[in-house]
This record gives sequence, structure tokens and C-alpha cells, in this order.
Amino acid sequence: MKRVLIIGGTGAMGARVARRLADRPGTEVSVLTRDPGSERATAVQSDKRVRLLRGDLNDPAGLRAAMSGVDEVFCNTDFFSTLSPASEYEQGLQALNAAQKVGVGKFVWSSLDNAATLTDGRIPVPHYDAKAAVEAHIGLRRSEEMMRQEIDGWYTRNVAVLVTAPYYENFQAGLAPTAGELPDGRDGVTFNIPLGSSSYPLVALDDIAWFGEHVLERWDRWAGRTLRIVGDSPTGLEIAATFERVTGIASAYEDLPLQALQDMVPGVGHDLAAMFAFFQDFDVAGRARDVHALREIYPDLMTFEGWLLATGWTGAAAT
Ligand SMILES: NC(=O)c1ccc[n+]([C@@H]2O[C@H](COP(=O)([O-])OP(=O)(O)OC[C@H]3O[C@@H](n4cnc5c(N)ncnc54)[C@H](OP(=O)(O)O)[C@@H]3O)[C@@H](O)[C@H]2O)c1
Repeated sequence: MKRVLIIGGTGAMGARVARRLADRPGTEVSVLTRDPGSERATAVQSDKRVRLLRGDLNDPAGLRAAMSGVDEVFCNTDFFSTLSPASEYEQGLQALNAAQKVGVGKFVWSSLDNAATLTDGRIPVPHYDAKAAVEAHIGLRRSEEMMRQEIDGWYTRNVAVLVTAPYYENFQAGLAPTAGELPDGRDGVTFNIPLGSSSYPLVALDDIAWFGEHVLERWDRWAGRTLRIVGDSPTGLEIAATFERVTGIASAYEDLPLQALQDMVPGVGHDLAAMFAFFQDFDVAGRARDVHALREIYPDLMTFEGWLLATGWTGAAAT
């Protein structure tokens, strides 16, 4: 029996990964949660193959206990719980330290692009850079192992990084289009996104889960390596046009000013606006992904159109 622990497994990403990994025969999946009685934890446990484990990333002893005897860890920490890059970085290190201490065989760090580095310091994006800082720490530990000629070093043999991208599913939440009259007079929906004329790197949650499993199953290929994924990278105009073509619902794109997004979400809007400023400045899919290679690995990788067809989503926010 293979034992798996998902950190962040009651969340949007982790819950999909948990379900996907539980589909593998001979796998026992546990999900770490601070509150096993919460609505989301209860929803995860409605899949009887998944077990809840009370724990907290801020509790190192508890983390070691949770990982003891575990073969595989998928770890997606949550910036938005603390709104502090330094705290998320510390949580990432706590998880890695615990896993190394108890000898976890495969640890997948779920990461995001290093916006500050990729823009030469011009556009820090706190919730991106925190995860990327942990990725850099993983790289540093590998270099340390390499310098000591520890060819079986834990970071070299037992850690892989999966760099993801915003979910298409965000359109069903904070980025849901608004219904109303379009500039051309038709009734329809408007996608208000701060993209300017740039493109939006996106991926389906189910495809993140697919790649999570792929990394674990192809450890020969990904141990000590980083896999950077994306499913599609449409511009705002392409998002509206694709949506209209697939659903038949008239749609338009409206560039939302970065400042408007910043003002809309007090306390965190500046971080979200920085992410879109990063996308406007740096073509993530074009410059930091190999979409051709990703499709060779996974031919069913969903484009935005594919995701619309697969989900049948017609513009409503998820309940
Ligand atoms: N939205 C996107 O498009 C997107 C794309 C890629 C990456 N991300 C990143 O994903 C992260 C959020 O994950 P998500 O989208 O799955 O969010 P989510 O649905 O809000 O889930 C957050 C998860 O983090 C767990 N968590 C938070 N603090 C914890 C702690 N101290 N100890 C243990 N578990 C803790 C929660 O567990 P409990 O509440 O059950 O304890 C929950 O499982 C963010 O850092 C975000 O930057 C988001």
C-alpha cells in the first residue's frame, strides 16, 4: 500500500490532486487540514478513499507525525491564509524539513513563477515569489548536496517541483463575467480582466492533478527537476471570442485597470494587480513554458476551449 499526504488537500488544487491520486490502485490518501469539521474538509471526506488528518503547517512536530511512514507528499501551501510571503516561505521549509527528517520518498512542491526575478526586480508578486523562494531553496539544497558529492542527497533524489498557473476555474469565482448589455448593443457577458492586450496563462485544475500524478509516477524523469505547466494562454479578446463560439452567448472583453482591481480587494488587491502587471510584462506561456513538450507528455491537456467543452460552463459563478 502506497501512502500519500496532500498538504492543502481541502483546497481547490489539493482536493483534485487527492481525488486523482486516490484513483490509483493500492494508494491510501490522507489530507492535512486545520479543521476536519469544516465544510470543505467534510466535502473532501465524502470520497471515502480519502482520510482527513488534523494538522497545521505551522506545527513542525505535527508535520513530522503526519508524514511519518508516508511515501509521497504533494504540498500546495496557501499564501492567502497569512498574506505574508515570509510566512509562506517558512511553511514551505517546515514541510520540506519534516519530510526530509522522516524520509519521505517523493515530495512534490507546488510552485509558481518567480515574478521578481523574471522581471529583474521590477514587478514583485508576493504570492508568486513566496512559492518561488521555496523552489530556490530546494535548488540551493541540491547545489549543497552536489558540492558535497552526495549523489543520493534527499533534495536531489526525493524532491520535484511542479510550477502551475492560474486555474480556468477562477472564471467561476472572482473573475466571473458580468451579464448585461455589451458595447455593440447585444445582451451578453463581459469578461473584465486586467490583461491589456497581453495573454493570460491558464490551466485546468484537473490537468494540474494529472501532472501531479505524472510527476510522482515518472519519478525517474522528474526527481530533482522542475516541470512548468500551462494549458492555454489566450488574450482577453480571445477569451471572449472563444466563450461566445463555444456557448453561443454574446460576450465581450473589457480591460480592467490594474488600479481598479487593487481598489476592489482591500488588503490583497495590490498583490493580485501585481500578478496581472507581471502577465502584461512577461509572456509566461511563451517564455517560461514549453507548450509543445507539455502536449507531447499529455495530449489531452485542455485549452480554454477544451475546458469550456469539458465542463459545459456557461458563465455562472460556481455555487
Ligand atoms: N487560484 C489560482 O488560480 C492558483 C493557481 C496556482 C496556484 N495557486 C496558489 O494556491 C494556493 C491556494 O491553494 P488553493 O487554490 O487550493 O486554495 P484554497 O482552496 O483556498 O485552499 C487552501 C488550502 O490551504 C490549506 N491551509 C492553509 N493554511 C494552512 C496551514 N497553516 N496548515 C495546513 N493547511 C493550510 C487549507 O486547509 P484547511 O483550511 O483545511 O486547514 C486548504 O486546503 C495559493 O498560495 C495560490 O497562490 C492558486
